[in-house]
Amino acid sequence: MILYTKDISDNIRNSIKDEIIQYTKNFRAPHLVVVLVGTDSASIKYVNAKKRACEEIGIVSSVIELESDISEKHLLAEIEKLNCDEGVDAILVQLPLPKHINTNTVIMAINQKKDVDGFHPHNVGHSLLGLDCITPCTPKGIMRLFDAVGYDLEGKNVVIVGRSNIVSKPLIGLFLEKNATVTITHSKTRDLKQHTKKADVLVVAVGKAKLITSEMVKEGAFVVDVGINVMENGKLCGDVDFDNVYEKCAFITPVPKGVGVMTITMLLYNTMLLYKNNLENFNRNKI
Ligand code: GUN
Repeated sequence: MILYTKDISDNIRNSIKDEIIQYTKNFRAPHLVVVLVGTDSASIKYVNAKKRACEEIGIVSSVIELESDISEKHLLAEIEKLNCDEGVDAILVQLPLPKHINTNTVIMAINQKKDVDGFHPHNVGHSLLGLDCITPCTPKGIMRLFDAVGYDLEGKNVVIVGRSNIVSKPLIGLFLEKNATVTITHSKTRDLKQHTKKADVLVVAVGKAKLITSEMVKEGAFVVDVGINVMENGKLCGDVDFDNVYEKCAFITPVPKGVGVMTITMLLYNTMLLYKNNLENFNRNKI
């Protein structure tokens, strides 16, 4: 079954929208600020999609556009301004950043209470320990898919291809929480196929078009394709050779209309969580 995520996503977005309608009877709307450094065309596309999604459900979004040669010091100062601004609930620094900027330094500069990506070490640590925190959007969106189709992960062999901080590493903790057996593979893994063939659940997040071919996939697998690759003809394509793989799968997410939609939905969800947390603190301070 091809798992188009629009309906799952729309349900979540509609309930966030309803919540915002209720909250904004008494309070200001939630506010997400996206910091975009440089003019990477993919990043601009993603940021525009995030902005559009915010507008559709009543989240205020601002984009701060900075030159690609901005110094790290200047970028950190911009983030500090946002940290101190009570009218800002959520901060997202679009990645990747230019090479002269240390990504970890920037992530660590974001107030953990406004870290909508869940990339700050505080949130990463809390997530691994199963404590309350903001979980990164793509992993969280992926986990929602299993819930939505009623797929029980307990005891399942989950194989993740890729070892990124954004997707793969957070997924380890989330799958373990569901009692799955997790294997991480990456560019130095020997005989990738030997691992992927055993996967009841195969998550691919490396950014290599059609890396996963039919003979690498087990019959009846649940395949989650996180890759977004732009082909020569301008079309998008995942990391899985979709046309030759989908018939083998119990479930497979397409590209586009799959994981990417869920990532944006979870960004809206996380923004709402931070907003509510911010309001609670605000009310507490007033008392
Ligand atoms: N670049 C690609 N994916 C993401 C994401 O989830 N968050 C941020 N901040 N940048 C990204």
